[in-house]
Formats: sequence, C-alpha cells, structure tokens
Amino acid sequence: MTAHALLLDELRDICGDAQVLTADLDVEAYSTDWKNSVRGQPLCVVRPANTAEVSAVVKACNRHRVPIVPQGGNTGLAAGATPGPDGEEVVLSLLRMKAIRDLDPVGMTVEVEAGAIVQTVKEEAERRGRLLPVSLAAEGSAMVGGIVSTNAGGINVLRYGMTRALVLGLEVVLADGTVVDGLRHLRKDNAGYDWKQLFIGAEGTLGIITAAVLRLAPIPRESVTALLSIADVETALKLFALAQDHVGEALSAFELISATSLGLVEKHAGLKSPIASGDWYLLVEASSSLSGLQPAMEKLLEAAFEQGLALDGVVASSRQQTQALWALREHVTEAEAREGGGLKHDISVPLRTMADFLVEAGKAVTAICPSAAFNVFGHLGDGNLHYNVLMNGAKEQAAVNRAVHDAVVRHRGSISAEHGIGQYRLGEWLRTKPESEQLLARAVKQAIDPGGMFNPGKLFPATLKGDAA
Ligand code: FAD
Ligand code: MLT
Ligand code: ZN
Repeated sequence: MTAHALLLDELRDICGDAQVLTADLDVEAYSTDWKNSVRGQPLCVVRPANTAEVSAVVKACNRHRVPIVPQGGNTGLAAGATPGPDGEEVVLSLLRMKAIRDLDPVGMTVEVEAGAIVQTVKEEAERRGRLLPVSLAAEGSAMVGGIVSTNAGGINVLRYGMTRALVLGLEVVLADGTVVDGLRHLRKDNAGYDWKQLFIGAEGTLGIITAAVLRLAPIPRESVTALLSIADVETALKLFALAQDHVGEALSAFELISATSLGLVEKHAGLKSPIASGDWYLLVEASSSLSGLQPAMEKLLEAAFEQGLALDGVVASSRQQTQALWALREHVTEAEAREGGGLKHDISVPLRTMADFLVEAGKAVTAICPSAAFNVFGHLGDGNLHYNVLMNGAKEQAAVNRAVHDAVVRHRGSISAEHGIGQYRLGEWLRTKPESEQLLARAVKQAIDPGGMFNPGKLFPATLKGDAA
C-alpha cells in the first residue's frame, strides 16, 4: 500500500468514509478559487466534524508528511484556499463545524465554530438583539474561520474595524495536532503575548482555526443611507471630511463607486442607479443607537450641494430603497466577473494621496495598455480601493500589475488591504515587501510551522526551507 493510500485509510477511520472525498466530481468545487483563476488537484478533501477530528487529521497528515490546505467558504479572492496542482495536499474543509456554541448578549460576545456561515451568525446575533459588525457581499458563503484567517474587511470597517478588531479568542490546531484553547470572552487580557493575532490574517499558513470568540455590538436603531454623484476623487475626500463633521462616529460606510462599475452592474445585473451625471458615486451610511440621524444626514447633503461638492444625491427613505442602493455596490464584483478580463487590485494608500495615486497609476496602466478600462470601487473611507483593470491582453497583465503596485509602494501603501496574498499576489509580495519584514514573517512561519504542514505556496514560496515537506 502506498503512503497516500495509508493516509486516506487513516482519514476515513477518523472522519468516516463519506467525509473523505477523492472522486474528481466530488473534489471539483474545492479545487478552484471563486474567480476560477487557479485550479488545483487535492489528494483528497477531508471534512472533520469537530476539533478532536481536526487534531487527529492533522496528526495523521503530519506523520505522512502531507501538507494541509484549510478551506472555509472558498470565497477568498487570493486563491489562498486552492490546493497545488500535483495531488500532494489534503484540503481540510471546515464546513461541518458550524455550531454557534454560546452567545452572550450582555457581555456582547459569540463563541462559534470556524465553519459557521457569517450570515447565519449575524442572523442569530440579530435574533438576540445584537450585531455582528462585519459586512461583505460574500457573507452568505464566507465562514468565520475564513474571515478570521483573511482578516476580512468589508463595508463597515470605518466604524467597527477589520475582523481582527472583533476577535477576542481563538481555538487553533497546530502542526503536531496540539489544540490551543484560547477561547476567552475577555476584552482585556495582557497576560503574555497575544498569540491569536498571529493566526488572524495568516491565510491558513500557521494552523487550523477551529473556533473563535467574536465581539458583538448593539444593533443601531437608526441607519441612513445616501447615494451622491460627484465629479472627481478630490471632491470625494472633501465630502469625507464633511461627513465626519456632520455625523462623526456614526459614519459607518463611505464607499466609492466609479461610473464604469455602475455600468457593469446595470449591464450584468439589470440594476440602475436612481441618480446619474457623475464620473464617480459615493454610497454613504451613518448608523446609531440613538435617534436624530436623518436630519443630520439631510444637513450633510445640503452642505454638500451648497459647497458645490455633490452633483446629485438621494437619501433612502425606506428599507427597500436602502437595500436597492446597497445592491448597486454589492453586485460590482459579480458583474465584473461576468464581464471578464478583470485584473484585480486591492490597494490602500494614505487618504491624502489617493487622488495622486489614481492619476499616477492610471497613466502608467494606459501607457502599457491603451485600451484598458478601469473598474474602480471600494472602501474609500478606509483608504482601500479595488483598482481593477479591465483588459484582454494576458501578456500585458504582469506589467500592469507591477505598474499599479509600484505606484502603491511610492505612496507607502499596501498591495493588499483586505484580500490577502494567497497565491494570487505572492510574486508581487516578494517583489515589493521590504526584506526585513519578509524575514520577520519567515521567522514566524519557521517558529510555528517548521515542517511546512500548512498551506504551502501561499504567502511564502513552497520551496522555502522548512515549508512544504
Ligand atoms: P476561504 O476562501 O475558504 O479561505 C480564505 C483563506 O483562509 C485561505 O487562505 C484558507 O486557507 C484560509 N482559511 C479558511 N478557513 C480557515 C480556517 N478555519 N483555519 C485556517 N485557515 C483558514 N473580502 C473582504 O475583505 N472584504 C470584502 O468586502 C469582500 N467582499 C467580497 C465579495 C465577494 C462577492 C466575494 C466573492 C469575496 C469577497 N471578499 C471580501 C473576499 C472573501 O469573501 C473573504 O476573504 C472571506 O474572508 C473569505 O472567507 P471564506 O470562508 O470563503 O475563506
Ligand atoms: C468588495 O469590496 O466588494 C470586495 O472586496 C470584492 C472585490 O474586491 O471584488
Ligand atoms: Zn472590498
């Protein structure tokens, strides 16, 4: 019997025959990323039911020196959950571990298994009068382990922070199968290194997250959403300052959408903006547990018109209208995928240089690919835009990628604000990240996963010493 066959038998003993998938048709959905840009071939997909089974699976894989690719909802946009092409890695799917173990509405915490769907946890929190303040268009499929492992952002980072800001405790399984139980419902804990921070945003390269304790928030009683059209990004930044002045800490979303993005949404999703006339649009939301937001938002709009910042604008006056405005934003990613040819970037730069960045990057891209179109949208309030270039020439894509990231580096920005490095940005991470920071990252990998059991070829090249077995 080969080593792989022995391992498969052991995995079947641990999880049951039905939870170890090997047939091409069965592993298909686990073998490619959401964008369908990278295709892998796992040795098998294993679906443990609980932390003890995860630990036993990791121990077995470690004994046979077969690396593991952790996978949640597989909605990641960096191909981080996609196995390599050689049938040498086990995909460990968390999808059966979805229990909401404990929800405390007074302490405002929820303890939940890694495979729980984000939307399901949000719905349960809402039923108990609390908010899980993470919001992204993929939340109907993304899982808790996935958002923690990517440190996901989304549209409410402005108000509540990235996923990292919500994580109070983690349970993780290390490469030797040790279960580290850090599931504390504490807001304050300075007893030694805060080790959980290493696993947040680690993209499955250090261990398997099996459960998390997340912070909840009060449900805002009032929420007001407005869509404005504007002429340019400098104006958007002026409006951002104005919004801070008018609604302050209640500002929960400040999203920029280009007219090109709205055009794609209209073309592929049949949704049309209720206002027109700008090259750019802003979707602004304020929410609060106290009342009185509607007049504050109306004053903001008045001031925006008086100061000549807004060309047109609308404030949603019903839940239905609010949903319709947000649908315009939420459909951009899918519309871009249908259009095809989208070269994704997930950049952040300091807000004060965002307009300069856009000019520089635009010139550089056009010089390489004169026919390129720009599907730019995203979380302007966080200094994070999805600067996506619509182009057909696969040959020029690498050059465009580099040109955009060079502009990012000039502005001391980041080549990934929220999606992560995975496989998609590995080359660019190695090219642009300062050596000293890469060395620190490698030191962490070596310390926690010295045998390279977890997610080879993601964040680090698979050939890194001590990486893939
Ligand atoms: P997966 O895709 O399964 O995995 C992502 C990474 O985490 C992989 O490296 C994987 O190995 C690792 N991983 C997964 N589970 C575990 C675990 N339990 N333990 C260890 N490692 C694990 N992202 C944003 O940040 N903001 C957005 O606004 C946003 N919007 C999106 C909209 C759409 C339409 C789509 C398709 C994606 C969007 N994303 C967004 C990207 C994606 O939804 C997030 O990255 C999400 O956090 C991924 O969760 P997942 O469960 O699907 O993880
Ligand atoms: C978003 O903000 O909608 C997401 O991060 C998805 C994307 O970049 O396409
Ligand atoms: Zn985003």
